[in-house]
Amino acid sequence: MKAIILAGGNGTRLAPITTAVNKHLLPVHDKPMIYYPLSVLMLAGIRDILVVCRDCDLTAYQHLLGDGERFGVAISYALQSEPKGIAEALIIGEHFLANGPCCLILGDNFFFGEGLGPKLREAAQLRVGAAVFAYQVADPERFGVISFDEQLRALTIAEKPRHPKSDWAVTGLYFFDHQAPEIARHLRPSSRGELEITSLNRHYLTQNELRVFLLGRGSAWLDMGTSASLQEAGAFVQMIEQRQGLKIACLEEIALKNGWIDADSLKRSLPTRCDSEYYRYVRQLVT
Ligand code: DAU
Repeated sequence: MKAIILAGGNGTRLAPITTAVNKHLLPVHDKPMIYYPLSVLMLAGIRDILVVCRDCDLTAYQHLLGDGERFGVAISYALQSEPKGIAEALIIGEHFLANGPCCLILGDNFFFGEGLGPKLREAAQLRVGAAVFAYQVADPERFGVISFDEQLRALTIAEKPRHPKSDWAVTGLYFFDHQAPEIARHLRPSSRGELEITSLNRHYLTQNELRVFLLGRGSAWLDMGTSASLQEAGAFVQMIEQRQGLKIACLEEIALKNGWIDADSLKRSLPTRCDSEYYRYVRQLVT
């Protein structure tokens, strides 16, 4: 399966922090934000990844991630000229997806928890229909909201409803079959002028082809799009990493564990000065 990380947008909710730096490059404790969604894809076993970003940020992303070889993945890039909606990523990525199934993840979404890897790998087997990951929140009206029955059959899905039908938010992690770009091309922009991912998911729901995975209360999901949630995510990562002595979203570590790179190539790819906390951790993985 291939995947798209959506890392465009103007990050207006974080201005002026995002006036000169794209949101997904901002630090979340000890690494850039985009490392977190990228690590989720790698945990799902996905190696062929398209980063969709703004033209003005392309050089920075290429500088940060390159072609992905260091992490045992293949990263390519495509541009989104204006933030015209999350579903537009599938249209932009249509050629890259080559009529195959895909995963789409939002560049500002943070996922953590026991058992996440197996769930992700199960979702990555999807070849028919679509799948979303839902997480219970106290403020569902801020998100896409999904309701479902006891057999986890999706009943309704709505984007930021004033009167939510459940408290299950649709997280920014989606799996689609090969039809998604074609369906996305036929969507009409919403009242906020965007091709809504919720409209695409609703299309699958009406065909009875929308699967729901639940992220239970033992897991954490945050979007990092406001200064408060950015701060919360940073504090969360710092607390867990300090307590366990293990890193969240260390791309080199995941690549090593997946058998996608070996210790020698990792050693060669390290910067000459490994004096940051992150690179000290990576170096001790291979010494
Ligand atoms: O975070 C989960 C939520 O993400 C879902 O519950 C909602 O259903 C979904 O619509 C989306 O809601 P947001 O209003 O939070 O989306 P936002 O506009 O903040 O964009 C999410 C990310 O995608 C953000 O990192 C910027 C990026 N983006 C967004 C749009 C609309 C782009 O790169 N290009 C775009 O055109």
